[in-house]
Amino acid sequence: MNKIVVEGLKYKYPLSETLALDNISFSVKEGEFIGIIGRNSAGKSTLCQAIVGLVPHFYKGAYGGKVLVDGLEVKTHSIADISLKAGMVFQNPFTQVTGSKMTVYEEIAFGLENIGVPRTEMINRIDEVLHLFKIEHVKDHNPFDLSGGQMQRMAIASIIAMKPEIILLDEPTSQLDPGGSEEVFQAVQSLKNQGITILMAEHKMEKVAQYCDKVLLLESGKVVDYDTPEVVFSRNDLDVFGVTAPVYTKVCQALGVKKKGADTYPVTLKEAEAALKEMRR
Ligand SMILES: Nc1ncnc2c1ncn2[C@@H]1O[C@H](COP(=O)(O)OP(=O)(O)OP(=O)(O)O)[C@@H](O)[C@H]1O
Ligand SMILES: [Mg+2]
Repeated sequence: MNKIVVEGLKYKYPLSETLALDNISFSVKEGEFIGIIGRNSAGKSTLCQAIVGLVPHFYKGAYGGKVLVDGLEVKTHSIADISLKAGMVFQNPFTQVTGSKMTVYEEIAFGLENIGVPRTEMINRIDEVLHLFKIEHVKDHNPFDLSGGQMQRMAIASIIAMKPEIILLDEPTSQLDPGGSEEVFQAVQSLKNQGITILMAEHKMEKVAQYCDKVLLLESGKVVDYDTPEVVFSRNDLDVFGVTAPVYTKVCQALGVKKKGADTYPVTLKEAEAALKEMRR
């Protein structure tokens, strides 16, 4: 079943001369994990905002085409309606923090209070996400005293506590070190295992290759490709779109080593290892 359907979506920010989104069409099935990639200004963040309704309800501007989120048409439903289905974590966690709460615990409780979750249910949900995102030990700290990684995990935890069926993450690991990034990806993977549909704008291609079911490659607001990581990262024109394939793919491309029985190159360490062992036989 399709959880998100985008049809011929066009969007121009007010006062802008060019389309930020130019005739975008794609769909996402329930439980899929989609990586959105492309150079700076390709339209990744704008597309995420068009799915949660900030475009066009908050940013205004010229809008055409259609976005359906779990059957709701974004253009004709309020941000509040859509937010019950789809939650978004922004590029910079600082912009997401309320600034009015003294502890991480209260910060996560804030969104739940807003949507009227009963108290016992609220406590259960907060404990669950504190555990899932490994921030139990800082639950009494001030949100602004957290490290970048902890703050990002708190921002994701606050959204997940609301139990959206769809979550959009805009470069959630851009401020994190490799360990922090891996923790975020593993936490996101566990959301996928619970059946949550995930869209993530991301620049770390090794991680996209390892975790995502499909990759949406954008350039100047247009869809260049929408396929499995193997197919997208095996393209030999990625440079043109400001994207660098995972290092494992590049090594295998240089050696001419494809996946066994396929016309694509390995995209993860595991796949590269298998293909290289096969070659040595
Ligand atoms: N609030 C805004 N007002 C006007 N134009 C905007 C606004 N936000 C983004 N844009 C423009 O829309 C286009 C798409 O930007 P967007 O931020 O969606 O790209 P992105 O792929 O997320 O880039 P990055 O990798 O840098 O985050 C760019 O040309 C950008 O300059
Ligand atoms: Mg962006």
